[in-house]
Amino acid sequence: TPGPTSANSAVATDATAIVNIASLVTNDPSLGEGTPLGLIRDAAVVIEGDRVVWVGGSSKAPATDNRIDAGGRAVIPGFVDSHSHLVFAGDRTAEFNARMSGRSYSAGGIRTTVAATRAASDEELEANLVRYLDEALRQGTTTFETKSGYGLTVEDEARALRIAARHTDEVTYLGAHIVSPDLADDPAAYVALVTGEMLDACAPHARWVDVFCEKGAFDGDQARAVLTAGKAKGLVPRVHANQLTYGPGVQLAVELDAASADHCTHLTDADVDALAAGSTVATLLPGAEFSTRAEWPDARRLLDAGVTVALSTDCNPGSSFTSSVPFCVALAVRDMGMTPDEAVWSATAGGAAALRRTDIGRLTPGARADLVVLDAPSHVHLAYRPGVPLVHRVLRAGRTVAG
Ligand code: NIG
Ligand code: FE
Repeated sequence: TPGPTSANSAVATDATAIVNIASLVTNDPSLGEGTPLGLIRDAAVVIEGDRVVWVGGSSKAPATDNRIDAGGRAVIPGFVDSHSHLVFAGDRTAEFNARMSGRSYSAGGIRTTVAATRAASDEELEANLVRYLDEALRQGTTTFETKSGYGLTVEDEARALRIAARHTDEVTYLGAHIVSPDLADDPAAYVALVTGEMLDACAPHARWVDVFCEKGAFDGDQARAVLTAGKAKGLVPRVHANQLTYGPGVQLAVELDAASADHCTHLTDADVDALAAGSTVATLLPGAEFSTRAEWPDARRLLDAGVTVALSTDCNPGSSFTSSVPFCVALAVRDMGMTPDEAVWSATAGGAAALRRTDIGRLTPGARADLVVLDAPSHVHLAYRPGVPLVHRVLRAGRTVAG
């Protein structure tokens, strides 16, 4: 007899069914109610190995040996945190304190973390990374991107990427975070290093190339040089753009077909039009505005223009020391004009789009079985109950990794 013709027609009996899900976010509007979430009420998900093989109504779930009763909780795809800076040492409590008494944020604080990171051993850096990854995992993050950018020498950037690559496929070369303090009086020499010897040492360990295009960091021409050199080595661009001031970053990102323009806090109409016309995702990072007391990015304006929006943490010791995607979802809903549905989509499918991934950020047959069981009947509670630990259980690639 022929084997199963589709994932839905038969599942192996050693599959696991998660049943009695009050509401399931699939992120496929063809499978359930509502665009963009494709919500199924009273749902089940069936997992075989590391993949989702079936989703649908709980009463129609195929027979399986293993069953998990979700107890009327909500299930969403694991969060995809497409922007973090987790290879660092030390912290910047004093700088945060000064800001909260009225100082403003500037890129200069990055130097404090560069000094601490250079002084740390590989073991210290990796232990620090693992600590924040575990923290993120417990809050529902099943995929994360992370960057170099606190080494700023050939050796220190390459080791940051090597350490990061032991823990994620989504590794970004950010040698162009700021001009290295060693070459502060010769930015052109530093750009030459970043696009030359440092790139050669770093490219084998990274998928992405990034640049902080901002006053006090790199201007449009320097940013273009960094991104085009990275592209020539097979890296795909993403850009820290328009965070602290208006500038060329967003339009450069679209022009070079960057996967994502990140921050997007200060946008002209031309910037929004460029994003709407291109395929670059706008990744919003409200933890940074929270922690620098800056104005919020206007998610509503971007969504209304048809731009794909991702939401991520930007977790780093300077501008956004949170590993919590749920916190960012709550901020985006309260202060950036997003609906809870839009914010949850942006933190899952949006993050996947920003990483050009189709295997994550959705719960549909064939997707990686990355999912979060919430201690709540609906994903809306992530914004409705801010600050409450609502993550009940986390599965990554079909295995329970938290809860
Ligand atoms: O994304 N903007 C540049 N980089 C980080 C901040 C890094 C830091 O302050 O240490 C950001 O906000
Ligand atoms: Fe960042």
